[in-house]
Amino acid sequence: MKTEIIKIDVNNIDKTGIRYAAEVLRSGGLVAFPTETVYGLGANALNETAVKNIFVAKGRPSDNPLIVHIADKRDVNKLVTYIPECAHILMQEFWPGPITLIMEKSNLIPLSVTAGLNTVGIRMPSNAVAYELIKESGVPVAAPSANTSGRPSPTNASHVIEDLYGRVDVIIDAGNCSVGVESTVLDTTSSPPVIFRPGGITFEQLEKVLGRVSLDPAILTERKGDFVPKSPGMKYKHYSPKGQVIIIEGALHDVVSKINELIDEYSSKGLRVGVMATNQTSSGYQGAEVISLGDRENAAEIAANLFKVMREFDEKETDIILAESVSSSGIGLAIMNRLSKAAGYNIIKV
Ligand code: TXA
Ligand code: MG
Repeated sequence: MKTEIIKIDVNNIDKTGIRYAAEVLRSGGLVAFPTETVYGLGANALNETAVKNIFVAKGRPSDNPLIVHIADKRDVNKLVTYIPECAHILMQEFWPGPITLIMEKSNLIPLSVTAGLNTVGIRMPSNAVAYELIKESGVPVAAPSANTSGRPSPTNASHVIEDLYGRVDVIIDAGNCSVGVESTVLDTTSSPPVIFRPGGITFEQLEKVLGRVSLDPAILTERKGDFVPKSPGMKYKHYSPKGQVIIIEGALHDVVSKINELIDEYSSKGLRVGVMATNQTSSGYQGAEVISLGDRENAAEIAANLFKVMREFDEKETDIILAESVSSSGIGLAIMNRLSKAAGYNIIKV
């Protein structure tokens, strides 16, 4: 398949490019586009064939439901059977923005979008290019992250090109995603609502607005045996780097000493070792490929760099990736959730 790459300046949006991509969407094609969280791979959510093609292009298991993206809050009315009170509040407070609200779906949404579930996740992204594209297309847009299944989510167009060039019709290149981790997925059908996936809107922000919010237990700890996750996506190992990720958790000084000890141990076995560090610590390691995620005091910066750094370690074919843990408050919960999954919950406490 021929893939067209369309460059769009988010501060000066070229309507011709948007109109072209919107027409591709409307007519059943696949368009990768930026959102504030990560790039999405969009298709007309009302077109079953187009939706199925998303699963093919990504190599995504068909039991993992897609999020439906809209550009006008009023569109929710036709996509769901009813809007729970808490969803009303959250739409008002956080849309457009990085939170996906799960509600009971209406008959308009094909079951291929929701992987057979009777609920649908809906979100209104705040990225201006996403907004213009969805609005211009005139249809709800089903979109998972625009990576091949099992790779880190793409936070710029080059990541999308790496994974999906030749497999989709259009890739819109509009620079870096500002948040860098995916949206929060919140089930609004239960009371209190449950966070299935932590993301751009934090637990603390939700608690402040709603009073009570639960966290699905699968967020930071491994669930084994016959546990069936509420959100199908949570059972998949999202990012399987070529190397083994190990998280080291504890007081920072101890973490740095432990990582240096592990660098020696693994390199003496002839393995290529990498460290996922922060600005405060990166000069404290010897004998490894060190990449900083950013300022330890700036969790938003770390979130924005996380997936890009994971891809950099893949390119360097690092065998062992030693990752410093960060605080799991605020956006840190999403960072530690993605890191824990990448590590297969391999965490050393010091
Ligand atoms: O930020 C984001 O959410 C990005 C951008 C493109 O919007 N999208 C994204 O989609 O991350 P995806 O498909 O990579 O992740 C969607 C997650 C999956 O874990 C899926 O299982 C869950 O949301 N999900 C979607 N619909 C659901 C539903 N009805 N019930 C439970 N979980 C659902
Ligand atoms: Mg994804």
